[in-house]
Amino acid sequence: MKSIYADNSSTSFPKAPTVAQAMYDYISYNGASVHRSSNEDAYQVERLLLETRQQLQQLLGGPSPKYVIFTPNVTTSLNMVLQGLFSAGDHLLISSLEHNAVMRPLHQLSMKGVSYSTIPSTPQGEMITSTLESLLLPTTKAILVTHVSNVCGTIQPIAEIGAFCKEHNLLCIVDAAQSAGILPIHMKDMNIDILCFTGHKGLLGPQGVGGFLLTKDVAHQIHPLLTGGTGSFSHTIEIPTTFPDRFEPGTPNIPGILGLHASLSYLNTVGIDSIYQHELSLTKQFICGLQELPKYTIHGMPNIHNRTAVISISPNHCDPAELAHNLEETYHIITRVGLHCAPTAHQVLGTYPRGTVRFSFGYHNTADEVDTILNSLDLLQTTQLL
Ligand SMILES: Cc1ncc(COP(=O)(O)O)c(C=O)c1O
Repeated sequence: MKSIYADNSSTSFPKAPTVAQAMYDYISYNGASVHRSSNEDAYQVERLLLETRQQLQQLLGGPSPKYVIFTPNVTTSLNMVLQGLFSAGDHLLISSLEHNAVMRPLHQLSMKGVSYSTIPSTPQGEMITSTLESLLLPTTKAILVTHVSNVCGTIQPIAEIGAFCKEHNLLCIVDAAQSAGILPIHMKDMNIDILCFTGHKGLLGPQGVGGFLLTKDVAHQIHPLLTGGTGSFSHTIEIPTTFPDRFEPGTPNIPGILGLHASLSYLNTVGIDSIYQHELSLTKQFICGLQELPKYTIHGMPNIHNRTAVISISPNHCDPAELAHNLEETYHIITRVGLHCAPTAHQVLGTYPRGTVRFSFGYHNTADEVDTILNSLDLLQTTQLL
């Protein structure tokens, strides 16, 4: 029996249809490195890497392809940004729904004298922006916020936060892991200084490629966490001061970036808005169906207002792990259970420490699949025992 994949916020599946071929073609027929070879194949790869930076800059409204940095994933991007930008005495504000990709680097930094305050949220995960002013300290340098919660799909008002940052001379940093390729983002219009992304979720690319986009001003403020060979300015012992080289030592994940190039072309052709509308219609169908099933509680926004297709539920009659296990074992439905690397988000939602069962729909899911999931949940309401 074919399984139903409803775990797209862990990683999207299937990938955009052109991704596998692009990666296969590069490995089979080209294979050249970048900035380290001088031949036609290498120049072709360099052109494709530049094109990928241009695609990302356009999709995300970034300042320039030069300031599109490739890393292995958003976790690496956030570490590079946080560790390169903040030092003892600095303070920042964060949302109360941050992923451990933010919380753990911040915990390390807190041991070195960096402090942070958490912006309160409603129980549905919406940031209470009226509290921002009161949380500011003379040492506050930035606001860092996850655009979309990976636990409940609640969307944070990043344009409003960007405007607040601009007004108060703070940096605005966004973790777009769950929104890039899903929601419209325009760094310049939204006053975002640094936007961190990962390639394997809404961007429909392969694992192992991500990055960050940043403004020219901020690029010069971040101390490079990593240093090494860049294939440029090889006579200097310091990492180059030019971009993107300053933040890209070592050979990049070229197959991954070319896979991302293919998925970005696909997204550009199909249009992220039409994918989002499809995912929202599945979300509406799912939430409406769930409201008829008394043994489940939906967390986060109660309808499709201000949310994406990430839906967490709690079974009232059994443990979430048992429900997720039965969904897979009996009905071949793939979800993700637990704390989703975001324990503080679960504290906001009141689901800590049990966690939730999370469904996350993607461009490939269908209304029939959502019906099957609802029917399975209905059957499990009555058959599952404590
Ligand atoms: C909001 C958020 N931030 C960061 C991450 C980490 O992503 P990656 O493992 O690609 O670095 C995730 C992935 O689950 C996420 O949902």
